[in-house]
Amino acid sequence: MITEKVENILNRQVNREAYSSLLYLSMASWAETHGYPGVAGWLYAQAEEEKDHMLRFVHYINDRGGKAGIEGIEQPPREFEGIKPLFEQVLKHEQFITRSINEIVTVCIEEQDHTTNNWVQWFVSEQIEEESNVQEILDRLNLVGEHNLYMFDRDILSLRGPGSSESGSE
Ligand code: FEO
Repeated sequence: MITEKVENILNRQVNREAYSSLLYLSMASWAETHGYPGVAGWLYAQAEEEKDHMLRFVHYINDRGGKAGIEGIEQPPREFEGIKPLFEQVLKHEQFITRSINEIVTVCIEEQDHTTNNWVQWFVSEQIEEESNVQEILDRLNLVGEHNLYMFDRDILSLRGPGSSESGSE
């Protein structure tokens, strides 16, 4: 059984993972219509991964005697200024999610909920992976420069990306 405080912060994370999925879906759609099929593919896969994260929280809350609730999800932006600003936004968002996951750990410790703390550690590790994947993409973008986005787009799917951190997730 989880306490109300733990249930509330886990439900907050359901909302944030859902928003992450919509944000990356919106970015994917933008990239697809601006001639970047590789970037779009990466982002569509990322959107799916965020949906999976959201579902993990939903099932955990319900399995532990709580009630997962879906609340109004914020509308993600529809326009982006370019490929580099887009990935900078992804990194900023993932850093926000990392802080959000860390806040869950803090609440678990306060509430002496060692079970949830143990469960959420998967996300602590996942966030290291997610931030590092996006940083790698930004490093590559800096290397190729704005004038060689065709090659960047062609190669992005070969970079470590969504799904690469799936091992050990079940
Ligand atoms: Fe579910 Fe990208 O954090």
